Amino acid sequence: MNKSKKILWLLFAAGMAVFVGYATFEAGWTEIAKTTVRGRNVPPEFIGKKIAFVADIHCGEGFSPARLDGLVKQINLLAPDIVLFGGDYVSRNGKNTEKCFSSLKNINAPLGKFGVLGNHDIEAGKNEVLAAMAGAGIAPLVNENRHINIGGGKITVAGTDETWYGVPDGAKAMEEAADFTIYMTHDPAYFEKYQNDKAKLLLAGHTHGGQITLFGLPFSWLIHRHKYRYEKGVYEEPGQTVIVTNGIGATILPLRFFARPQINLILLEK
Ligand SMILES: [Fe+2]
Repeated sequence: MNKSKKILWLLFAAGMAVFVGYATFEAGWTEIAKTTVRGRNVPPEFIGKKIAFVADIHCGEGFSPARLDGLVKQINLLAPDIVLFGGDYVSRNGKNTEKCFSSLKNINAPLGKFGVLGNHDIEAGKNEVLAAMAGAGIAPLVNENRHINIGGGKITVAGTDETWYGVPDGAKAMEEAADFTIYMTHDPAYFEKYQNDKAKLLLAGHTHGGQITLFGLPFSWLIHRHKYRYEKGVYEEPGQTVIVTNGIGATILPLRFFARPQINLILLEK
């Protein structure tokens, strides 16, 4: 190998080492992404309530149950009233379903914990994950909803079945929904298929914000084979706020590049 080729290889190797080092660090650098939901007819009883939204933990694949204990502490410190989960709690190759959910059980949420299923949960074992969710006090929402009441005020949390293996039915999930409904699905592609005027806050995950991006440019459609209308971040639409979280964990490679792990903290306002 001539000298200039050698230098090029050395530069490439050094660049890769810096990239892997940084991306490993970023994968553990969780941010609290705050959003205020305003002007969406939140019932007065719910003004000031806090919602934590967490998705794509992928516990067991790179994200150890021990690290999950740290995440649980971080969420509890935020003192949310409601905690919502966007699916992919575990990974298709994970063998830690029980351990992961025994940790999630320790999340405190006075007004309840609710969640949808992700594609990885179904691949890891749908029935096992559904049972573990129930055991951890997380109400599974599979084309169904639950109401939360404070005094005379009522909101609804609705969730759909997963898009890859299940049969998502937004209309069914939204049956008898309150005027302020939080509408969750794992894969935000489903928001392009079904909308509802009562869905004021839409939450999804799945894209990991691209996970490894070109300096933040979204290109997860390369992996997901879908050009997303809602791919990452917050979208203020007429009548609704849509949030697609970067999620917490990682798949395939335990790396993130310009797509930091996120806990979304949502404040309900007038
Ligand atoms: Fe997913």
